[in-house]
Amino acid sequence: MVTIDGPGGAGKGTVAAGLARRLGWHWLDSGSLYRALGWLAAREKLFEAPDETLADLASRINVVPAGPDTHVTADGQDIREWLREEKAGEWASQIAVRPQVRKQLLPLQQACRIPPGLITDGRDMGTVVFPDAVLKVYLTASPKSRAERRLKQLNALGVHGNLTDLTREIAARDERDRTRALSPLSPAPDAWVIDSTHLSAEQVIEQIWEAGRCFF
Ligand code: C5P
Repeated sequence: MVTIDGPGGAGKGTVAAGLARRLGWHWLDSGSLYRALGWLAAREKLFEAPDETLADLASRINVVPAGPDTHVTADGQDIREWLREEKAGEWASQIAVRPQVRKQLLPLQQACRIPPGLITDGRDMGTVVFPDAVLKVYLTASPKSRAERRLKQLNALGVHGNLTDLTREIAARDERDRTRALSPLSPAPDAWVIDSTHLSAEQVIEQIWEAGRCFF
């Protein structure tokens, strides 16, 4: 079990999927759960809804790790194509502050810990969801390089983005994720902090691979 936490755009997903591929393990992209729920809440205009309504909404989301991929569904439908845009990240971060939502999504994530092993990335994987993970990484990078990376990812997906807007949106999301009362973004005390500002995803994967050799 390896956890990779950190702010948006640090390269967590690319590194986690790459490591899962190399190890033949599963990958849980926990952000996709929050994105799916944020997307549902936006579609049904339920951001201000009471906790019980949001818990019901969360029960319509499911996730299945599938090797170096994460299949997330809403009402049984594959909705991944709706979750890529930056807006989905914004909705996710708004819904992620609600305690009932986090409570409801916790067992769903923990159930993804299946053989032969799980690499997961998110904000609270090493601190709350899998505190006993054998290797915990906190991946960070400068705000500028994170915005640039996010822009490249969006462009590669055929989604339009603008660097100034992205920088502002990422900073606002970081602030919300770091200051929320429950499961705030913060390195676990036993996490290994890697700054990926000047590293490629392959170089980060190689570092984790070397450090984790005795566990894998
Ligand atoms: O990682 P990603 O950008 O897809 O996450 C979208 C949002 O979902 C984050 O900004 C955060 O608010 C929320 N999230 C979370 N806990 C996680 C993963 C994501 O609160 N483990």
